[in-house]
Amino acid sequence: MPRLSEALGGPPLWIKRDDCTGLATGGNKTRKLEYLMGAARAEGADGVVTFGALQSNHARQTAAAAAALGLQCDLVLVTDVDYREPAWEVSGNRLLDELLGARVHAVADETAAAKKLGALMESARDDGRRLYVIPVGGSNATGALGYAGCALELLEQAAALQLDARTVVSATSSLGTQAGLLVGLHSAQSQIFVRGVNVSAPDEAVQGANLRSLCDATASVLGVAPPPDKRLRIETGFLGDNYGVPTEAMHEAVGLIARHEGILLDPVYTGKAMAWLVDAIRSRRLDDSEPIIFLHTGGSPGLFAYQAALSERLAR
Ligand SMILES: Cc1ncc(COP(=O)(O)O)c(C=O)c1O
Repeated sequence: MPRLSEALGGPPLWIKRDDCTGLATGGNKTRKLEYLMGAARAEGADGVVTFGALQSNHARQTAAAAAALGLQCDLVLVTDVDYREPAWEVSGNRLLDELLGARVHAVADETAAAKKLGALMESARDDGRRLYVIPVGGSNATGALGYAGCALELLEQAAALQLDARTVVSATSSLGTQAGLLVGLHSAQSQIFVRGVNVSAPDEAVQGANLRSLCDATASVLGVAPPPDKRLRIETGFLGDNYGVPTEAMHEAVGLIARHEGILLDPVYTGKAMAWLVDAIRSRRLDDSEPIIFLHTGGSPGLFAYQAALSERLAR
């Protein structure tokens, strides 16, 4: 990203375009779903059910994968996010879910989601159908395998470009992306440091413990040594008021990359991760001489769900 690097006056910035993974506008869940949908088919499932917030990118990509494989898709989506505007309720990922043929079940909160799952499982059993349950964000050891694979791909690409990058920056939420990357990089004896920027968890201690256990579970599936604690790094301070709530730093970061590189981020995940990176460069917390790779995990349909917030900021 030469123009963005120049504008920030810091290290050379590169971007890995996992927003271009191809499944209904792409994103990081596509790599996880390669394994999760494989598991669903191996179990003989004729439908999948998964969870997320109403504007979940994971849900949209699951709906797309299910459509491509001819599986029924139930999405249980919670509405208790501290952000509302008319577009958030109906546009963005929510609109695409329906276009992709998923059955959307909007519920108030986690408790209602668990209840809905129970009802869906029961009705599938009654109808003689088999549902495969995919966790929030596709983040279990099966899904994280997609990012262990991504780590190896990234190393190959960096070698081909003779890019001596030491840092990868990514948004982190349900942690499968970060855990998979960490396990893959460690298994390849890479010294690349993964900085996952927290965009969802108010309780950062809980997130650290969850990252540890997901790394261990993923490494165990692969039969490799898990990465040590000192490589598990979650960056904080850019969540703002809560998950899905826009911040001024996010608005600035989304605008900067759009106007210097023609690349669209999203307001909930990648925008906040890029906000951390912009701040780290400006405050010289990163070594200026080493290239940095930003992992673009997708999410641009989310821009349309924040139409009012973005328009208001652009009008200033
Ligand atoms: C666009 C985007 N970026 C990043 C993430 C975070 O990935 P993970 O849930 O694997 O931590 C998500 C997941 O919801 C996402 O949709």
